[in-house]
Amino acid sequence: MQVDGRSALMLAGANYLDLASDARVLAGAHAALDRYGAAAGGARLISGNLTLHEDLEHRLARFLGYAHALLFSTGYMANLGVLTALCGPEDALVSDSLNHASIIDACRLSGAKTYIFEHNDVEDFERVLRALPPRGRRVVVVDGVYSMDGDVAPLAALVPIAREYDCWVVVDDAHGIGTLGTSGRGATECAGVQVDALIGNLGKAFGSFGAFVACGEALRDWLINRSRSFIFTCAIAPPAVGAALAALEIVRNEPERRERLQARAERLRAGLRAAGLDTGRSTTQIVPLILGTSRRTMQLCEAALERGIYVQGIRYPSVAEGSARLRLTPTCAHRESDIDSCTSALIDLANSDAFRAEAAP
Ligand SMILES: Cc1ncc(COP(=O)(O)O)c(C=O)c1O
Repeated sequence: MQVDGRSALMLAGANYLDLASDARVLAGAHAALDRYGAAAGGARLISGNLTLHEDLEHRLARFLGYAHALLFSTGYMANLGVLTALCGPEDALVSDSLNHASIIDACRLSGAKTYIFEHNDVEDFERVLRALPPRGRRVVVVDGVYSMDGDVAPLAALVPIAREYDCWVVVDDAHGIGTLGTSGRGATECAGVQVDALIGNLGKAFGSFGAFVACGEALRDWLINRSRSFIFTCAIAPPAVGAALAALEIVRNEPERRERLQARAERLRAGLRAAGLDTGRSTTQIVPLILGTSRRTMQLCEAALERGIYVQGIRYPSVAEGSARLRLTPTCAHRESDIDSCTSALIDLANSDAFRAEAAP
């Protein structure tokens, strides 16, 4: 990328499979633009429903192994729309302590009583479920891949327990679909589970824009009638849908992209860890370099840019106080040599006297 006229190696995006500028994805966007125009021109339920939207929904559902899929205009709106349609003041929402901000906002907006369990802690999860009130609907919501830590929800354990306690299960796998699993179906594929609502994102691995929920017929019909962030908003613009359709074919047919992505992430993680640096619980393409104070993190972020590496500092309140970090996200387009030069520059900087001094209490 170019930053202020200088070249930099970009390690801060979510274009994980390098599809946002792939010629086939661009051709998909152009074809949709030519055929349908620049805008859907209305909400899905009024005038904006195109065969293009329905085609993408059918293909996403088939890819993920669900009866239906429903597009939302963003991942934020998908989380709001699904959780507020499923839960009201009489109901219970059970949410991981590190769930994405859009899930937290959705829990609040639903009016349901929200019960938080310790991040990825199966025992604490069951303790919370055991204490739920007997009335109302119960919905468990977790991320598939945690966006600031790069760890994966223990779905193989959580889902059967949730079923035992009569809970619906909603998984927001914005970062996992396309990047994880032999077929690219994400964290639920890795865990071998099906859930009630699987939320995916088209703006990350798919290199486009928008989001979707994969689910059964009854929930789809309910969402179409109850989900305010689906009903009261403009449908996704045709070029984004055309791009996503083309990207889906690549996600399905080119598993080597996710294999390369995960290999690059592992190389980065292993290099940083070997130098004694803290990459937390990451096992995916999201690799945090945990540095502690916000000041140290932002100074290192600027120093990295001076060396031609574009990364972003993540601070409180996005993460807990004292756990500020650089959030590194390689893509499958990075070469091993890119990863190695980034790793050695970051090790160099983190171990330099200036940043060591800053780390001291
Ligand atoms: C886990 C997760 N869910 C949802 C979202 C929101 O998606 P969108 O940017 O499409 O609104 C994001 C990030 O953007 C995310 O990381």
